[in-house]
Amino acid sequence: MANTILVGAQWGDEGKGKIIDVLTGNADIVVRSQGGNNAGHTVIQGGKKYVLHLIPSGILRRGKMCVIGNGVVIDPVALVDEIEGLRKVGVRIGKNLLISDCAHLVLPYHRALDEQREQRQGHAKIGTTKRGIGPAYGDKAARTGLRMADLLQPELFTKKLEAKMRENNSILKALGARPISFAKVNRDFLAAGEKLRPFVANTVVYLHRALQQGKEILFEGAQGTFLDIDHGTYPYVTSSNTTAGGACTGTGVPPHRMDRVLGVMKAYTTRVGEGSLPTEDPAIAGMLHDMGREFGATTGRARRCGWFDAVATRYATMINGIDELAITNLDGLDTVDPIKVCVAYKLDGKTLEVPPSDAAQLIRCQPVYLEFPGWKKSTEKAKKLSDLPKAARDYAKKIAELTGARLSMISVGPARGQTLIL
Ligand code: GDP
Ligand code: IMO
Ligand code: MG
Repeated sequence: MANTILVGAQWGDEGKGKIIDVLTGNADIVVRSQGGNNAGHTVIQGGKKYVLHLIPSGILRRGKMCVIGNGVVIDPVALVDEIEGLRKVGVRIGKNLLISDCAHLVLPYHRALDEQREQRQGHAKIGTTKRGIGPAYGDKAARTGLRMADLLQPELFTKKLEAKMRENNSILKALGARPISFAKVNRDFLAAGEKLRPFVANTVVYLHRALQQGKEILFEGAQGTFLDIDHGTYPYVTSSNTTAGGACTGTGVPPHRMDRVLGVMKAYTTRVGEGSLPTEDPAIAGMLHDMGREFGATTGRARRCGWFDAVATRYATMINGIDELAITNLDGLDTVDPIKVCVAYKLDGKTLEVPPSDAAQLIRCQPVYLEFPGWKKSTEKAKKLSDLPKAARDYAKKIAELTGARLSMISVGPARGQTLIL
């Protein structure tokens, strides 16, 4: 039995949802441990496209349990919408979903504050998803947040909410923003709470019992290594630990129960939002956007694109303890020739093997590239490694070698079947 932590090894949107869908075939439980509905995980099943935001990507597979752990921040109204939206298209959601009673709530004032902070930052903005994620985690750290357990006690919730609304409305007014109606939020949230009540549980106890029974757990990371609040390109990060440790703190499953860490990385690099992206190149962005690729699953924003950055992914291997790698979107490079790979950064005449911690330094780093020949053939129909053109095989092996972990999967299209298991 192997419990697997799946993490994004870059800046998010690596194709985690697709790889989770493939791996769920062999797992019993899929758990989200951090982030909120800033995530957008795409799964294509039976020709239909699903984008999951708060619900684990395993929900599309019958007979699998899905758990939203204590480390996730939940907008209950958005979660009810997501559940109802999925049910409308035939996805069964009932006893297969559990939500931690300790998960913190995202409230409308968090979204309003997120929006205000971004607006007031002007050019220095983070480029958040405006889902209120930063302010919600801020309240959690300040020990003033509301949790799922509060929502299920209507009288207590109303009392706590009233105090929080008073405080946050005065902040919003001071920022020149419109205050939010307490009565409406209270009504909407209590209604959402009643719909969510059947799913709420002590998920720590559930997961430990499952482990005792020998069940196999898949931890579905959201965002990516360089968006981690501690290890990412601060301050251009999200507000949770997106790296492997987050899977433990965000679920209550201890480190010694984790068996492997799988890093997911695109065959090139993308990023949404602000902050440096050393290998960014408008040429590759233009090409991918012209193909209709690399538009955000949550906000629809065009993703910034660059060449594969092995300095970044090698660092990701170190932080997460990545044992195995899944390369996605190899087919995105089918028409590119030559293909560049960044193997080091140059900063003030020095060669760097690891990214500098300071955002101001990172932005001045110049990538040092190696060039690889393109294969200029479609890889989308490949079923096994030997179906790939030699140049594509060599490229995948080389970027895995530079990243420093064993290559175990290559994805050549968004569908489940477009996956080579090595
Ligand atoms: P996530 O947030 O890491 O789950 O990734 P997203 O779903 O936000 O973005 C990844 C995008 O790439 C989605 O549109 C996927 O359907 C798509 N995708 C994943 N793997 C592949 C692949 O190997 N090839 C192609 N063409 N698309 C892929
Ligand atoms: P998945 O799980 C890509 C980015 C935002 C912004 C920064 C902070 O689909 O990979 P936030 O709203 O979290 O405060 O925004 O983080 N970001 C993501 N980028 N994929 C994601 O999730 C992201 N979630 C947040 O664009 O730069
Ligand atoms: Mg995404």
